[in-house]
Amino acid sequence: EKGGYDHFMLKEINEQPKAYRDTMRGRLREGLSGVKLTELKVITPEVLREIRNVHIVACGTAYHAGLVGRSLIEHNVNIPVETDVASEYRYRKPIIKPDTLVIVVSQSGETADTLAALREAKRCGASVLAITNVVGSSVAREADDTIVTWAGPEIAVASTKAYTSQLIAFMLFSLYWAEQVESLSQEEIRHQLAAIEALPEQVELILSQEDQLKRVAEDMAKHNSLFFIGRGVDYAVSLEGSLKLKEISYIHSEAYPAGELKHGTLALIEEGVPVIALVTQPALIEKMISNMQEVTARGGRIFAIVDQAHKEQVAKTADEVFVLPTTLAHLSPALSVVPTQLIAYYASLALGHDVDKPRNLAKSVTVE
Ligand code: F6R
Repeated sequence: EKGGYDHFMLKEINEQPKAYRDTMRGRLREGLSGVKLTELKVITPEVLREIRNVHIVACGTAYHAGLVGRSLIEHNVNIPVETDVASEYRYRKPIIKPDTLVIVVSQSGETADTLAALREAKRCGASVLAITNVVGSSVAREADDTIVTWAGPEIAVASTKAYTSQLIAFMLFSLYWAEQVESLSQEEIRHQLAAIEALPEQVELILSQEDQLKRVAEDMAKHNSLFFIGRGVDYAVSLEGSLKLKEISYIHSEAYPAGELKHGTLALIEEGVPVIALVTQPALIEKMISNMQEVTARGGRIFAIVDQAHKEQVAKTADEVFVLPTTLAHLSPALSVVPTQLIAYYASLALGHDVDKPRNLAKSVTVE
């Protein structure tokens, strides 16, 4: 049942190229001229043209996908987006209006807080779109429309392929919407779709380099605490990488926006502290390097996950680099998260933990 893999998590990490392709299947128009989302029946192009703001609501890993979703929608559709943790959103009196689109993201479609947020959004008259992996789940049944991620069953408690297929869903939805409101040119839409279509093969390339990540993970497993830093979507991926590591290896870690380190956290950086730096945003490269220098000046050791174009520049400050294939800056999370998943997996393995069933956690959280 594990298809020759030792754990479901490793199997599911390796299934990501297929999950990306399955989530794209049937949704790309001929010649990459646009995106087809025939499942949107209530949230029609006319409805999308009237939307003035977006709330993305989810828990845990799905919330981290929502942070990337925020930047994709802002980038492609030019509409303000807020992303919230469902258990916070419900209680802070969010301003939900009929021209608000609320997007709930849930792998299982059964998470209690996410479902309650969906109901609240509907009560306020907002349009509600679900992104879920389970057809016929509560979230799918109650939302106005649903975009299904075709990641296939996810058995390991730690979410991997469900998260990345949520990223693909956000990419496609943001381009579909961009076409309706003409926020991007045909040319630009085609350019992005070509880059999206290349992602599965690029993930395969990353997966083929797991030996390096295994070695790095075994080294990280000797430490009690480490940090993830990044800016922009690299920060969103830092949060996800840090959660995954905590969840299955029980190693304490924190994710920080790189520019925030010097506002307090830098006090914790001392000789030998491992720091995983996500460095994929060309516009932020100089700033990111100077944040990395703040770390190395205090003895911190940096493992950088960096895009092809900046590897030499970043290697001057990092102790070691892992090089990602080239994609568009705002699509990079679909690649950069994969090495962090493998680091979490191999760190957990090195420490002898139950990778697929971490202590204290359940796959589907139906209590509030
Ligand atoms: C972490 C993880 C959880 C879930 C969260 C929401 O690896 O899987 O953080 O993402 O419990 O679950 P869903 O997406 O089913 O609503």
